[in-house]
Amino acid sequence: MKTTLTTLQKKKGKEKIAVITAYDALFASIFDGEVDMILVGDSLSMSFGGHKDTIPLSFDDMLYHTKAVRRGVKESFLIADMPFGSYNTTDEALKNATRLYKEGGADAIKIEVGESKIEMVEKLVDNGIAVMPHIGLKPQFYRFEGGYKIKGKSQNEAEEMLSLALELEKSGAFGFLIEGTKKEVAENLTNKLSAFTIGIGSGVGCDGQVLVWSDAFGFFDEFTPKFVRKYLNGKELLKDAIRAYARDIKEGKFPNDNESY
Ligand code: KIV
Repeated sequence: MKTTLTTLQKKKGKEKIAVITAYDALFASIFDGEVDMILVGDSLSMSFGGHKDTIPLSFDDMLYHTKAVRRGVKESFLIADMPFGSYNTTDEALKNATRLYKEGGADAIKIEVGESKIEMVEKLVDNGIAVMPHIGLKPQFYRFEGGYKIKGKSQNEAEEMLSLALELEKSGAFGFLIEGTKKEVAENLTNKLSAFTIGIGSGVGCDGQVLVWSDAFGFFDEFTPKFVRKYLNGKELLKDAIRAYARDIKEGKFPNDNESY
């Protein structure tokens, strides 16, 4: 059954929301229906594109991958990220979010926001685009902040996050992604907001959780953040498989007669 915004919103306080990223149709079709939401995250810049951070990802690349994931997803709710530099002004945000909606087939968009983007969120929502603000640690600010900095460590920061989230909710945000935030702060946000929260590195108190698929399944091992739980040793399994394949070819064992015409 297709997951909609309404079915997601009804889960708040009743059932946790499971989210995973995907960047292509094949993997998306494997994840489809097993999780409530699939995110075409800008983490694709690193785990797929080989970059060191999310900043180099272009809007065209995001659109291409969103279209691909859309072709693999029939049941889960599909959300696409707005890449760095694709929403510098409200007009640009509206133009690009509209493309992710119309051409990419996204059910919603995610956008890294602070105070200065509240009106932008309002404008997107006014135009019929479902918006999930990404708050707390915002990876697109990695270079600007000189690293990945956990948020909500001071009372002041926690209060600022709460007031930002409440403003964004008033602007029509349907849900929040809370990254890299002290667990008590994320839990407090979850309790104070009517919209649901999806956490990553923000403790168990959120309404749902997301992981980057290549982290969760052990394919990306350049660094593993503390919050990642590995559900598969993907890289090792694939290494074993590719070695066996190459060995069979070199030893003349592949293909055999059954595999030949
Ligand atoms: O781009 C991404 O994958 C994200 C993660 C925080 C889930 O935004």
